Amino acid sequence: MASYKDTYDAWKKDPEGFWAEAAKEIDWFKPATQILEVKDGLSRWFVGAETNTCWNALDRHVKAGHGARTALIYDSAMLGHVKKFTYAELLEKVSLFAGVLQRRGIEKGDRVLIYMPMVPQAAVAMLACARLGAIHSVVFGGFAPKELATRIDDATPKLIVSASCGLEPGRVLAYKPLLDKAIEMSTHKVSATIVFQREMEKATLVAGRDFDWKSEMDKAAAANARPECVPVAATDPLYVLYTSGTTGKPKGVVRDNGGHMVALKWSMKNVYDINPGDTFWAASDVGWVVGHSYIVYGPLVHGCTTILFEGKPVGTPDAGTYWRIISQHGVKAMFTAPTAIRAIRKEDPQAALVGKYDLTKFEVLYLAGERADPDTIQWAEKALSGRPVIDHWWQTESGWPMVANPMGIERLPVKYGSPSVPLPGYEIHVVDEANKQVGPNTTGAIVVKLPLPPGCLPTLWQNEQGFRESYLADYPGYYKTADAGFMDEDGYLYVMSRTDDIINVAGHRLSTGGMEEVLAAHPDVAECAVIGIADPMKGQVPVGFLVINSGVARPAGEIEREAVSLIRERIGPVAAFKTAIIVQRLPKTRSGKVLRGTMRKIADGETWDTPATIDDPAVLGEIEAALKTGLGR
Ligand code: COA
Ligand code: AMP
Repeated sequence: MASYKDTYDAWKKDPEGFWAEAAKEIDWFKPATQILEVKDGLSRWFVGAETNTCWNALDRHVKAGHGARTALIYDSAMLGHVKKFTYAELLEKVSLFAGVLQRRGIEKGDRVLIYMPMVPQAAVAMLACARLGAIHSVVFGGFAPKELATRIDDATPKLIVSASCGLEPGRVLAYKPLLDKAIEMSTHKVSATIVFQREMEKATLVAGRDFDWKSEMDKAAAANARPECVPVAATDPLYVLYTSGTTGKPKGVVRDNGGHMVALKWSMKNVYDINPGDTFWAASDVGWVVGHSYIVYGPLVHGCTTILFEGKPVGTPDAGTYWRIISQHGVKAMFTAPTAIRAIRKEDPQAALVGKYDLTKFEVLYLAGERADPDTIQWAEKALSGRPVIDHWWQTESGWPMVANPMGIERLPVKYGSPSVPLPGYEIHVVDEANKQVGPNTTGAIVVKLPLPPGCLPTLWQNEQGFRESYLADYPGYYKTADAGFMDEDGYLYVMSRTDDIINVAGHRLSTGGMEEVLAAHPDVAECAVIGIADPMKGQVPVGFLVINSGVARPAGEIEREAVSLIRERIGPVAAFKTAIIVQRLPKTRSGKVLRGTMRKIADGETWDTPATIDDPAVLGEIEAALKTGLGR
């Protein structure tokens, strides 16, 4: 078997040949006339090829005789309910829902927004869009109506698919009122919604605009509306997924059909060491890229069994849920965020619950989404009797891992704190501000040499200029990841922090700039700053500092509580914004830039120096005192 080095070198020597070979694993209706086209700095893979992602995820497996294989297991720890769908059953549901969408006027290229909890209907809706060549845009359920409205206005969907409610521990969250509010707030008007009614909370449907999932499916069945897969260009978008950017306005990351499938299929074997027929579980949400790539598309295109989990790592009902699922469904490898492991460890520090379950089929635990601290990895290794716990690094934009320990090629030695080495497709450099490569163990910006490999974003939705500005402009010839870190002498990368205003809260990517925009809108707030501070469970949590307009005589506590509610109302509970602290003034440079970095160091108890450019050093003492009172630190 080839080593990691041989594989990486083979890619480097002939990138197009490497991906052309990987592309043989995908069914194409028409082959590519050009493997890679680079025009004006933008790259497109498998030009001229036609394919369909739903065909590759479902139809071809059924056609190959695997219709009876389990495609998807819905495991709801919230409901204590498990339902399995074979490939043939999932294909039937997806075909019918494609019929529903088609009867509602959805065609190739139309956008469909999906706002759903973790129910199998979410995956069905995604695959049905893929079947028709429609472009889905899934929005995570923890976002507030305003965030949803922003996405509606940017993606301009013809139709929205939603559900009556989501389930969080101890409460039913009605989705429909949030959706109605978002529709009301958005400028773009959606003509129809299809709502999956869950038993615990029935939504009120607006006559003529909202349609019931079940009756629509029944009607499609009666009309035998089961459209075939619509051929799309490999370069046509499969989906748009919004992610936090440097301002409050989210970025619409575009994913194509062809390159995406080639990269995911390659990664299932080479990164995750998974074979068709194996059970793979990514405990994420369909609203995040991990859900897109490794709950829905990757495992299904590869012919695996995937698990769609509705629940939490703890409290549903206990910290043994992950181990129960691994055991019950024979999971070979699972993928989760380090936060989830920290949450489990807090509840079950001795990992006593692991021993309750038979984990014989379980081989590897993969972690990503945020920095995996060595302590958490070592705890998990011990809890899992020495099984490998593998950190890997990627982002919404890449769609699949950029740096990993390639378990399906060669298991490299683990270095704690590093997600390991660059994968084929990614020539990774650490550079200084002048785009000059720095030496080993020297911190700098992490960039990727262009062109980006298949699967990575080709552009931002309706915003090529924004794509160039955000990712290509700062380091000519390279893609800016906006992460910073260093590479050691063995080529292992260490990802330490972001270079922008993004913070990572429980594996969720959030913009502090977006939060500042919301807080600044409070009538009593003169100025504000939001920073992410270290949190033992969630990695980071946001804290807001508010300077109040002079003359405002209201109690500080009241304004602070309003600020907390405002973020929840405008961005959503997912922001986990629980602390706002009123201060007299913010620390600034003489040119007026808020010194957020120094504030964070103070909050995290790190050593800090007074920046030479600071306007008045005394402010830092005030911030320290405010943090002591506000956070008890
Ligand atoms: N719809 C509506 N609300 C949601 C939601 C959804 N889909 N998901 C989360 N929320 C809400 C939660 O109820 C919570 O609200 P609260 O402030 O009223 O309690 C808030 O958003 C924050 O949620 P969460 O980040 O899940 O925190 P938590 O305290 O409820 O749970 C963990 C903590 C560690 C269990 C949880 O963060 C977790 O499972 N993390 C793993 C993250 C993960 O897998 N990320 C995927 C990226 S790879
Ligand atoms: P998202 O786009 O939501 O997947 O978030 C991507 C960001 O999360 C990256 O740019 C990193 O900042 C962070 N991240 C993801 N995985 C890791 C990892 N393994 N180690 C360190 N940071 C990570």
